[in-house]
Amino acid sequence: MSTFEPLVFSGVQPTGNLHLGNYLGAIRRWVALQENNNCIYCVVDQHAITQAVSVWGGPSELLRNTREVTAAFLAAGVDPKKHIVFNQSRVRQHSELAWVFNCIARMGWLNRMTQFKDKAGKDRENASVGLYVYPNLMAADILVYRATHVPVGEDQKQHLELTRDIAQKFNTDFSDRISELGLGVETQSGHETISSFFPLTEPVIGGPAARLMSLRDGTKKMSKSDPSDLSRINLIDDADTISKKIRKAKTDSDPLPSEVDGLKDRPEADNLVGIYAALTDSDKETVLHNFGGQQFSVFKPALAELAVEKLSPIAAEMRRISADPGFVDAVLKDGGERASILAEKTMRNVRDIVGFLQD
Ligand code: TYM
Repeated sequence: MSTFEPLVFSGVQPTGNLHLGNYLGAIRRWVALQENNNCIYCVVDQHAITQAVSVWGGPSELLRNTREVTAAFLAAGVDPKKHIVFNQSRVRQHSELAWVFNCIARMGWLNRMTQFKDKAGKDRENASVGLYVYPNLMAADILVYRATHVPVGEDQKQHLELTRDIAQKFNTDFSDRISELGLGVETQSGHETISSFFPLTEPVIGGPAARLMSLRDGTKKMSKSDPSDLSRINLIDDADTISKKIRKAKTDSDPLPSEVDGLKDRPEADNLVGIYAALTDSDKETVLHNFGGQQFSVFKPALAELAVEKLSPIAAEMRRISADPGFVDAVLKDGGERASILAEKTMRNVRDIVGFLQD
């Protein structure tokens, strides 16, 4: 029985203020996955323009941020030679497949997307149509490579569930045609063996940093768009700024507990312990084993020192790489060419499956 080739895909929007949540929740985990997998990592510039121009900053900002996010991937250890790094808009097949998915996904499915509700805010009538169908483009990003695994932070979970729903509906709607053309891959669905064209992609979410919270409010996600810069540690922050932000991070007045259970109802403490755990590749239990009973006056300086030690080399490498935009552009061009070949292979099949005439 043939199965889908394991393939990892993930992406980051070039919308500025790349932060510790993006790094610990996603990019750093991509680096680990490179060891034993084929990986495709994408700067999703078409997703970036789904909000108002005032939010994404206009063309010069988009170009700058696309290069900066690419530099961050490389500085964090993504290998663009062994794997593929490119910007989404270069590979036209993403938007071509997204159109097909616009016709597969149901309004009801998209109406449930919490990120749309968050980003559109109260003025939904004024949100772009692109923001509404954003998850369909995300599904296309993944499925145009028939990727099987997608490492992301917790906030993308719902979008990945939608990606599976889209894949499943496509497989079912066109099942006869997929078999007729011999394009199906046999997969197990409960006790049944079915023939599918798209895999049901697995989200790879987890670890102590799957959802980093704001440093100013432990109930809110650390986010690029938070108006307070003190709420997040940016990847390009210098050592003094990192230390200051951790020093000023909101906490309660109790010492750290010795057990993870003791972090319940203490979102700020939980968040800082999670950051420490992620930066040391350990878990919250281990951190509390070492710091349980200590005051924040002891824990915060230790965390600041650790964060500076881990993040400063990345920031320095980002600056070094960003100083050579020609190099960054060449990486994206090369990655785009290799990605296009893979994406076109899928799209030729999709056109045949749907019934679009082609040469
Ligand atoms: P984006 O650009 O908002 O975020 C990039 C990655 O960072 C993760 N992340 C976080 N992780 C932990 N804590 C946080 N506070 C935090 N904030 C962000 C995100 O989960 C993500 O993994 N829709 C996606 C981009 C995208 C994509 C894709 C991802 C487009 N197509 C295909 C995977 C596959 C987004 O807006 O990510």
